[in-house]
Amino acid sequence: MVQKRVLVVDDEKLIRWSLSRMLEKNGYLVEVAGSGAEAREQVEAFNPHMILLDIWLPDAVGIDLLNEFKQKNDDLIILMITANAQSDYVVQAFKYGAEDYIGKPFKLDMVEHTIAKAFEKKSLAQAPDDFGQGVDANVELNQMVGNSPKMIEVFKNIRLCAESDCKTVLILGESGTGKELVAQAINQHSARSEQPFIELNCAAIPENLLENELFGHQKGAYTDASSEEKGIFENANKGTVFLDEIGDLPLSMQGKLLKVIETKRFRRLGGKDELETDVRIIAATNRNLAQMVEDGEFRGDLFFRLNVMVMRLPALRERKEDIPNLVQYFVAVLNKEYGRQIESVAAKGMDCLIDYDWPGNVRELRNTIERAIMLENGKVLNPRCPGCENSRHVGGDRQIPSVQPDGAVSTISSAPVEDDYSRLPAGGMSMDEMEKELIVQALVQFNGNQTEAAKHLGISRDTIRYRIKKFKLSGFGKDRKNNKASA
Ligand SMILES: Nc1ncnc2c1ncn2[C@@H]1O[C@H](COP(=O)(O)OP(=O)(O)OP(=O)(O)O)[C@@H](O)[C@H]1O
Ligand SMILES: [Mg+2]
Repeated sequence: MVQKRVLVVDDEKLIRWSLSRMLEKNGYLVEVAGSGAEAREQVEAFNPHMILLDIWLPDAVGIDLLNEFKQKNDDLIILMITANAQSDYVVQAFKYGAEDYIGKPFKLDMVEHTIAKAFEKKSLAQAPDDFGQGVDANVELNQMVGNSPKMIEVFKNIRLCAESDCKTVLILGESGTGKELVAQAINQHSARSEQPFIELNCAAIPENLLENELFGHQKGAYTDASSEEKGIFENANKGTVFLDEIGDLPLSMQGKLLKVIETKRFRRLGGKDELETDVRIIAATNRNLAQMVEDGEFRGDLFFRLNVMVMRLPALRERKEDIPNLVQYFVAVLNKEYGRQIESVAAKGMDCLIDYDWPGNVRELRNTIERAIMLENGKVLNPRCPGCENSRHVGGDRQIPSVQPDGAVSTISSAPVEDDYSRLPAGGMSMDEMEKELIVQALVQFNGNQTEAAKHLGISRDTIRYRIKKFKLSGFGKDRKNNKASA
């Protein structure tokens, strides 16, 4: 369940303190503001579900703020606090959508009750199995989802990086935490967003081609160089270069990159003249660069240069409160992608997803939801994650293999996988369902490669194509991780 966020706005320090203590004790996330200006900032940054709003503030009238906040977000619950409730104000407040009124001085247990009642009324404590209404058919792709304080901090830093135009940004985080999304978001919100954004996966390009990719070459620089060609630093001029997997950049290239960062100048391969480039470099890695420096695998001076504006992305297990929102988002996105109509997620399935530790982070969660959607014919999704006992199948207790972050398929069943399929589950299972599940697994295992999947299942390519169409599985199993343009 999402932890509810409450903003306390009052100019009296003691009131802010006593209300926040009571709220925190009751499990709410709390922020405080002592003025109208601070309240506006917190509403942006903290995105509260509820505001306890004093009527008299040094720089604003609470009623005006109430109106302003409700106009922007009608779902926001606002409780007014005042020492001297004047009927005009009370009427006005309710007209503008205040939920309730708390008179000063107040008894904390009364306030506690009023808050709980207001949340109950709005039923913000949505059961995880009941978000069908909330699944937005117009959901936008490539959004970053997250309401946890850690993700809110990430969003704040994205804005900071985007606005500051600092020349390097380093994004760190485990695999699947969203480093690439963050790089794109920084670009989109920056003044450079209309300029080129060029991505290079340092791990995907052979060492001998990297220099050419980055710096380009003059005609005749080497045997195949029949004409001159610009490299990334020239093509991305005024824009952004995203160096993904920077930890995999060979040492030979690290020195050259450092020079570009320090002097903004470089030479094409075989070129005599130094060319200028104005690029912002966003680098990302899931490797421990400091350790690599110690081990002599990464240049200390380059690390020092990159280690200025650093964003660390939290692992999903550190912000489990984001899981329901992420699930809701992926269901909406994948519904759209595959033309499905999943309306809700079974509570048991959601509990499982929340319990699991997600070593492959958001990518693994997305893969799990995708797989569950492929296997679901009804409107209620019953996802199961690796390690989970809850099976959606008629066979109930049967363990089915699950997708690992690297696309491999594993099972936590102690019995070999073959055993699972050699016996009919007690509750029966349709041939179609069995067939579909095997195809899904093979596609996942081979990253959507139909030829490999067909070979593995001992059927022809035509047969697998026909089945994929029949079960509406097209596009399924392709590892998005490798979908990025390499340059
Ligand atoms: N906060 C988020 N909200 C929605 N989707 C997310 C979020 N974080 C990650 N994803 C999704 O998870 C997948 C992995 O994200 P991304 O490729 O950005 O991770 P990464 O940190 O670059 O991983 P790697 O180190 O393996 O390259 C993508 O499909 C991405 O869209
Ligand atoms: Mg990445």
